[in-house]
Amino acid sequence: MNIRKVSTTPFNDQKPGTSGLRKRVPVFRQAHYLENFVQAIFDSIEVPQGTTLTLGGDGRYYNREAIQIILKMAAANGFGRVLVGQGGILSTPAASCIIRKYATFGGIILSASHNPGGPDGDFGIKYNTPNGGPAPEKVTEAIFARSKELTEYRILDAPDVALDEMGESDLGGMRVQVIDPVADYAKMMEALFDFGAIRQLLAGGFRLKFDAMHAVTGPYAQEIFVKRLGAPAASVMNAVPLPDFGGGHPDPNLTYAHELVEVLYGADAPDFGAASDGDGDRNMILGQRFFVTPSDSLAILAANAQLAPGYAQGLAGIARSMPTSAAADRVAQALGIPCFETPTGWKFFGNLMDAGEVTLCGEESFGTGSDHVREKDGLWAVLFWLNIVAARKQSVEAIVREHWAKFGRNVYSRHDYEGLPLDAANGVMKHLHDSFATLPGTKMGSYQVQFCDDFSYTDPVDGSVSTGQGVRIGFSDGSRIVFRLSGTGTEGATLRIYLEAYEPDVSKHHLDAQVALAELIEIAASISELRERSGRDQPTVIT
Ligand code: G1P
Ligand code: ZN
Repeated sequence: MNIRKVSTTPFNDQKPGTSGLRKRVPVFRQAHYLENFVQAIFDSIEVPQGTTLTLGGDGRYYNREAIQIILKMAAANGFGRVLVGQGGILSTPAASCIIRKYATFGGIILSASHNPGGPDGDFGIKYNTPNGGPAPEKVTEAIFARSKELTEYRILDAPDVALDEMGESDLGGMRVQVIDPVADYAKMMEALFDFGAIRQLLAGGFRLKFDAMHAVTGPYAQEIFVKRLGAPAASVMNAVPLPDFGGGHPDPNLTYAHELVEVLYGADAPDFGAASDGDGDRNMILGQRFFVTPSDSLAILAANAQLAPGYAQGLAGIARSMPTSAAADRVAQALGIPCFETPTGWKFFGNLMDAGEVTLCGEESFGTGSDHVREKDGLWAVLFWLNIVAARKQSVEAIVREHWAKFGRNVYSRHDYEGLPLDAANGVMKHLHDSFATLPGTKMGSYQVQFCDDFSYTDPVDGSVSTGQGVRIGFSDGSRIVFRLSGTGTEGATLRIYLEAYEPDVSKHHLDAQVALAELIEIAASISELRERSGRDQPTVIT
């Protein structure tokens, strides 16, 4: 078979964001667009001759076509073998599991995570390094630099590879191994959690509802919840993965997973609800008529970790992204273990996990995970919760309320303003920066500003510095407002406002977060001049 060298001209917009390169499908379908980026990856990582690559995606529109292109380019770029999920499918945490288990030279994951899919939806691609985690900034910067200068890419002239049957085939001298996307991952979950106790819980009438949102976790949830844990088949809803996610927005939060929310807040509600996103790395946890914030979820998993067999020896430490609430910090303090505060994005946890500094990690954006892989992991979090519920024999709500009573409640909410004009969003951020000199000491209602800064992070393991990671306004009572621009959107700008107040008083723990945070919400609007600058007075999404 023939390796073709195709002349190309660089694109200048292939800068990976918070999690890989994400663009609209029509952008990816332009001639040479995907190929250029893949060649930039291969050129930047210096592929050892004959090495193995892991490959898979969340099954969204364009997944199959992209897999074929990448297989042929891998064959033309010196790979000796590719492990590809059957049908081109691998959830993000399963891909991380495969990279680690089979020690492959990293992997390529095709996903735009929770962004909608379809012919006009989003597509995405990212490279994960041999530790199974998202490439760190120095690698993504090298890929971007290469993407702006390359003049040709290499691709094998060959017919498409059959992806729907498991087994091995030859592609121009490279082995293509189509693997079961679920088996290795399910086995790993069985080793971490007490499946016997969860099986008993479910057999005893405890009712679970999991919403796969027509995304990648459907087959994983069927295998784990239904087949291995004995839950009724109807426990998994929207279980069939679809290339356009059934027209939905596969983001597990109160807004986009409303179908599940209605079930859990409806009559005859099940005991436990959960959802995951497009590529299976996010999770939302619900009790009966009860929502667990992701920040609380991380803290509660940490406080109860010893109940799960995989974590019975204790935790080395916890890490959370900066905008995530400090609930986990309180648990870490009580356990006498360190808690690290990192910039937004899972890639910042990798070094800490590799160095054995942390076991659990989490982000307020419905991401929780541990050092079992190097990605956040939706089903892992759901199983962890089920394991805790089975061991404590209490409802989700009772577990959360007890936690608050012991540690106090970090009342938390995030307000997103999506699709803002770039000028307006940048104007808000600039205005905040310009206010740094005058804000400290200022009194606003019952709050007083103690500090403000733009978060920067020095990685304790490799000393690398990441600046400009979000504006923090801290108040004297420990409350906090954070402003950040999203790095995953594909259109306009998304401004995220993160609000947090600490409430030790149990008699106020029943309050709705929006009510408890009302004054801070007003302060955020006034110090940012958001309404004046954007013409918006309501967020697009509240989580
Ligand atoms: C968002 C989340 C962030 C998460 C990322 C990838 O990034 O806020 O926590 O790691 O998606 O799932 P953002 O759009 O805020 O840059
Ligand atoms: Zn995701």
